[in-house]
Amino acid sequence: MEHARIRENQRVAPEQFQLLLESPRIAARAQPGTFVQVSCDEDGWLKRPMSLLDARGDRLDILYKVVGKGTQRLSTRPAGTHLSIMGPIGNPFAPDPEAPWIIAIGGGTGIPPLIFLLERLLASGTRNRLAFFGGSELPFPLETQPRATPFIGIPEHASLSLLRLDRAGIPAALASRGSIRGTYPGLVTELFECWWRAQPEPPAQGTQVFSCGPSAMMVSVQNLALEMHFGGALCLEEYMACAIGGCAGCTVPITGPGGIAMKRVC
Ligand SMILES: Cc1cc2nc3c(=O)[nH]c(=O)nc-3n(C[C@H](O)[C@H](O)[C@H](O)COP(=O)(O)OP(=O)(O)OC[C@H]3O[C@@H](n4cnc5c(N)ncnc54)[C@H](O)[C@@H]3O)c2cc1C
Ligand code: FES
Repeated sequence: MEHARIRENQRVAPEQFQLLLESPRIAARAQPGTFVQVSCDEDGWLKRPMSLLDARGDRLDILYKVVGKGTQRLSTRPAGTHLSIMGPIGNPFAPDPEAPWIIAIGGGTGIPPLIFLLERLLASGTRNRLAFFGGSELPFPLETQPRATPFIGIPEHASLSLLRLDRAGIPAALASRGSIRGTYPGLVTELFECWWRAQPEPPAQGTQVFSCGPSAMMVSVQNLALEMHFGGALCLEEYMACAIGGCAGCTVPITGPGGIAMKRVC
C-alpha cells in the first residue's frame, strides 16, 4: 500500500482521463500486465482496479474511463492531493525472447497494459518483431498521427497510428466502428486477421499474441490465435473486491490441459 501524490488527473478524451501518480515503491516493482487497486474517494472505500500504462522513476501512469461511481469520483480528485494505492498485483506478461513476433491486440481500456508491454520490450533491446492493433469505439485516449512506421498488410485507409508507438518505430494500426477517420472500419480482430492474411510469409511458429480488452474481443483473439497456432496470454479484467486472493470474487472458468478450473483474476 502506498500513499501516492496525484501529479496530474486530466481529461484526455471524452469520458477518459490520464492519471499520473508519484508512487516510487510501486513504480519500482510494476511490470506490464500487473495492476493496482486505487482508492477513488478520500475515505478509501471505493477501491477500483486499474492497469498501468507506464511506470518509470517514481511515476505511475494510468488511463481510465469514467463508467460509474468510483471512476466518476476519481475524475474529481485534484492534482496535489493523495490517494491510497495497493500493488503491483497480478501476473506480469511473460513474452518469449525467442518469439519471432510479439503481437499486442487491445480494446478500449485494455490498451494501456499492452503499450506498456511493447515499450518495455523495445527499451530492453528485444529481438522480437513488435506489432500493435488497437480498437476503440470512443476517441482514442492517446494521441494519434498518420503512420510513418511501415506496416505491410494494413489496408491503406487504416492510416492512423498511436503517436508514441509510431515515434518509437513500433508498427501500429487502429480500428473503430465509430467512424474515426484513418481507422479500419470494423473490429480490431478483423483488422488483425486482414493483416495476417496479407502477409507474403505468415508470422512463423512461436509467435505470441498478448491481448486485453472486452471479453468478446478476447474470445475472438483466442480463437484466431488457436487457428494460427500462436501462443501468448490474455489479460482479464473481471469485477474485483479484495484483489489479494482473499474473497474468490474474481474467479473465472479457465480451460487448461486438465479441463476447466476456476482461477482468480487477481
Ligand atoms: C485488472 C483490471 C484492470 C483494469 N484496468 C483498467 C484501466 O486501465 N482503465 C480503466 O478505465 N478501467 C480498467 N479496469 C476496469 C475498471 O476497474 C472499472 O471500470 C471500474 O472498476 C469501474 O468502477 P466504477 O465504480 O466507476 O463503476 P461501477 O459502478 O462499478 O460499474 C459501472 C459499469 O462499468 C462496467 N464495469 C465495472 N467494472 C468493470 C470491469 N472490471 N470490467 C469491465 N467492465 C466493468 C460495468 O458495465 C458496470 O455496469 C480494470 C479492471 C480490472 C479488473
Ligand atoms: S478479488 Fe478477492 S480473490 Fe480476487
